[in-house]
Amino acid sequence: MDKIRVWGGVPLRGKVQVSGSKNAALPILISSLLSEDPCVFRRIPQLQDIRTVLKLLAHLGVEVQVDQGQVRLDSKHVHLFEAPYDLVRTMRASVVVLGPLLARFGKARVSLPGGCAIGARPIDFHLAGLERLGATLELENGYVTATAKKLRGNRIAFEFPSVGATENIMMAATLAEGETLMENCAKEPEIIDLAMALKAMGAQIEGEGTEIIRIQGCTRLKGCEYSVMGDRIEAGTFLAAGFATGGEVRVENIYPDSIEAVLVKFEEAGAKVIRGTDWVFMDGSSRPAATNITTLPFPGFPTDMQAQFMTLMTLGEGACAITETIFENRFMHVSELARLGADIVIRGNTALVKGQKSLRGAPLMATDLRASASLIIGGLCAQGETTIDRIYHLDRGYEKMEDKLMQLGAKIERFS
Ligand code: UD1
Repeated sequence: MDKIRVWGGVPLRGKVQVSGSKNAALPILISSLLSEDPCVFRRIPQLQDIRTVLKLLAHLGVEVQVDQGQVRLDSKHVHLFEAPYDLVRTMRASVVVLGPLLARFGKARVSLPGGCAIGARPIDFHLAGLERLGATLELENGYVTATAKKLRGNRIAFEFPSVGATENIMMAATLAEGETLMENCAKEPEIIDLAMALKAMGAQIEGEGTEIIRIQGCTRLKGCEYSVMGDRIEAGTFLAAGFATGGEVRVENIYPDSIEAVLVKFEEAGAKVIRGTDWVFMDGSSRPAATNITTLPFPGFPTDMQAQFMTLMTLGEGACAITETIFENRFMHVSELARLGADIVIRGNTALVKGQKSLRGAPLMATDLRASASLIIGGLCAQGETTIDRIYHLDRGYEKMEDKLMQLGAKIERFS
């Protein structure tokens, strides 16, 4: 099993090219199931989660061709309609195949994902939405089977703006009969990116990026070519690492608007931020001031940046409160950060962080994707050597992270 070793204390300086967004790429690759023509997607990051979704698509009968960051998918001969437990367990986003399979083939069987390290994460909103479109659902042996002769457009009000449920229903509705009106939708930039890919396939969608999405169903969608947006969480992670080490970092291939809530918090903490058309520069040479955050659905502060921001705050001047409202168990990095000497107390869904002048290196264990990034940032700041075990969590969502950090001057290596 791979580990990462970091020698801390070097301020990061330079620029980083951000990869294509993992969370946009996953549903976009899955959207190819909606068309019997080939689709070509570009700027697909080379990551474990992407390999898992391509494995799932190949399992269903999709012809998959990968050429570096370009993926060609041909769903003409799909002959299986089931996402098995082994694949859904390793990557929950697999449940998003339900909507497209059901819409195009009238049937889908998907393993229930169960909980994961950061929380229970049920899929009840996805299922309720599909039922509103006329699907019949059966739950048996840990699988949900959905059938429908033809999905019919309807009005769907989500209980909560779930990213996955918005994506699943948006895809299903593109091939439903008539109009679907989705209310209380997630507004994340990845939803807009998926809608743009679907529109390139001929789908009729309005309102993506707002609470209300209106879709006129079509009888068929055509193939398309589409390039995925830059990864806003990767960009935010490198900026947090730059600030935490007292450096200056420019991230490129990223729309600043997609991480505005994070940039505002960096500024509140004392960093100087310059927003370009598709880049952000940050001078983080001053010690960060303690800054409270509360995670919220977009455009609020993203839960996927909470752990990285917390590491930054462990070195802040003063004390702050970090409140997590999206997932119920997303503070597993806290006990690991404490091993570096961080002073953090958890009270319900709030972590109270008292900033220290410095951290000290230690052996650490990654527990989930974003937690691993926060521990690497911790190691980059800590005096001496830090090793991080179970780095496979990081490989699910960051493309060539050590290489990119090395380009910024970090002393970091991967070893087995
Ligand atoms: C997506 C992102 C993930 C991010 C999250 C929130 C992908 C692949 N993953 O996950 O990185 O952290 O958005 O921005 O894009 N919920 C229910 N019932 C449901 C669906 C969700 O109760 O049917 C709850 C979840 O347990 C969670 C909250 O709603 O507490 C938000 O989840 P959701 O927005 O659906 O997150 P994901 O799509 O799983």
